[in-house]
Amino acid sequence: MNKKIFIFDTTLRDGEQSPGASLTSKQKLDIAFQLERLGVDIIEAGFPIASPGDKEAVFMIAKNITNCQVAGLARARREDIDACIESLKPLKKRDLARIHTFIATSNIHIKYKLKMSKEDVIATAVNAVKYAKRFTSNIEFSCEDAGRSEIDFLCKIVEEAIKAGATTINIPETVGYTLPQEYGSLFKELVNRVPNIDKCILSTHCHNDLGLAVANSISAILNGARQVECTINGIGERAGNASLEEVVMILKTRKDYFDKFYTDINTKEIYPTSKLVSNLTGIVVQPNKAIVGANAFKHESGIHQDGVLKKRQTYEIMSAKDVGVPSNELVLGKHSGRHALDKRLKQLGYSLDKKISNKIFYKFKQLCDKKKYVFDEDIFALVNEEVGKSEGKLELKYFHISSGSGILPTATIELEIKHGQKTKCFRQADFGDGPIDAAYKAIDKIICEMLNICVTPKLVDYSLKAISSGKDAQGEVVVKLEYNKTTFTGRGISTDVVEASIKAYVCALNNFILNKKMYKGVKIHL
Ligand code: KIV
Ligand code: ZN
Repeated sequence: MNKKIFIFDTTLRDGEQSPGASLTSKQKLDIAFQLERLGVDIIEAGFPIASPGDKEAVFMIAKNITNCQVAGLARARREDIDACIESLKPLKKRDLARIHTFIATSNIHIKYKLKMSKEDVIATAVNAVKYAKRFTSNIEFSCEDAGRSEIDFLCKIVEEAIKAGATTINIPETVGYTLPQEYGSLFKELVNRVPNIDKCILSTHCHNDLGLAVANSISAILNGARQVECTINGIGERAGNASLEEVVMILKTRKDYFDKFYTDINTKEIYPTSKLVSNLTGIVVQPNKAIVGANAFKHESGIHQDGVLKKRQTYEIMSAKDVGVPSNELVLGKHSGRHALDKRLKQLGYSLDKKISNKIFYKFKQLCDKKKYVFDEDIFALVNEEVGKSEGKLELKYFHISSGSGILPTATIELEIKHGQKTKCFRQADFGDGPIDAAYKAIDKIICEMLNICVTPKLVDYSLKAISSGKDAQGEVVVKLEYNKTTFTGRGISTDVVEASIKAYVCALNNFILNKKMYKGVKIHL
């Protein structure tokens, strides 16, 4: 009998715990829509008790997602579960709402963190599952740090959680310590020793501290796990979580070995999803990353190139097309019309609403004036910039830069600010170490004037890369700003790197302004 592997995506919860990642609710919703297109079974949308922003994001996702289950995380406490219930209420069908509750089960966590007896840990878990069960039948219980827990205790608590009503039991490898064989044996023991184990789906959740998250997840599948918790691009706490694209492509590419297992993932959506997540979180994908890295399907050596030209399979075990990597062939240009762009967008896997596709067409036409060839990569960038944009209060209206050898770089910037029904333009000029520094200083002056604050968010990271080939390739800039220990990411693209830098800075500031917590009580001066 064929066995479905359920894909539980935790990009928006564990993934968002990556250092430096911080997403607005709107950005989380955009990612959730893409995960729905990708075909994940469950979206873990957040940890509602953790912050009002998380609660709002889970609520928005529960309201708008129709084709997957939506999960919220809760410690084994009533207040956490109540926050989950509130956030998951908008889901059309109650059993699509999953409450994911957890408590630690390893001796080290029980003794030093929880300071509880083992009996109390079991009682707390059972009470939490029963409490959550009043709202939905769909309850997941996780044994935090299961990888380092004693097997007898693990068997006991799992049995009790299932008796209390848990329908999914997750066995997290929280600290990324165990080896694939050890982790697989844990599942085997649970399957053999827990009498009611057939009443639940066993789940794996692995962290990548020793680079074993994917190998451990696969080992768990081979020993009874039917749900894999994973993230896009493998982002997550510390060294990250098991990467969704790697797990899915292992099962698909090695069908000969995993003949009975399948997932419902539409693999052609993998690459667009990876791009979107990287763009919105600002977490760059390493070029040699399996499946989605820039070099994953490139052949440098002459022998390899020769082999691939003669027969692709000589050096390629899967095809780039299958994971949605654009062919990078020349597609569109100055003479392409609306119809051609819409068709290409569809081929690339995008189904955009009219408002957004109108904007993208307008930008595409502007780009064609600056750039002779428009590649798929350019189209991805246009879409991601537009989709990832916060409903900006600030918009760049004008910039002028003066720079060169022997002169002081200066910048004049004009930003338009929308607030309620009102709109106003602010203009400032400044000089700096270079044209970008001068522009950022001028923008900072505008922000200080507008928000009546003395200190603007600090620039902590700046990166620039070319997104397609050719002399007229567009530059893509990602900036990270920090304010009160919170990071705000912005991205900008243009054929002019100064313009891309200014757009990225304005985008990050929009995210800062959108985060109401940050400027609460501050009056915008119009
Ligand atoms: O790594 C972990 O243990 C977790 C749990 C909360 C599931 O993320
Ligand atoms: Zn985790």
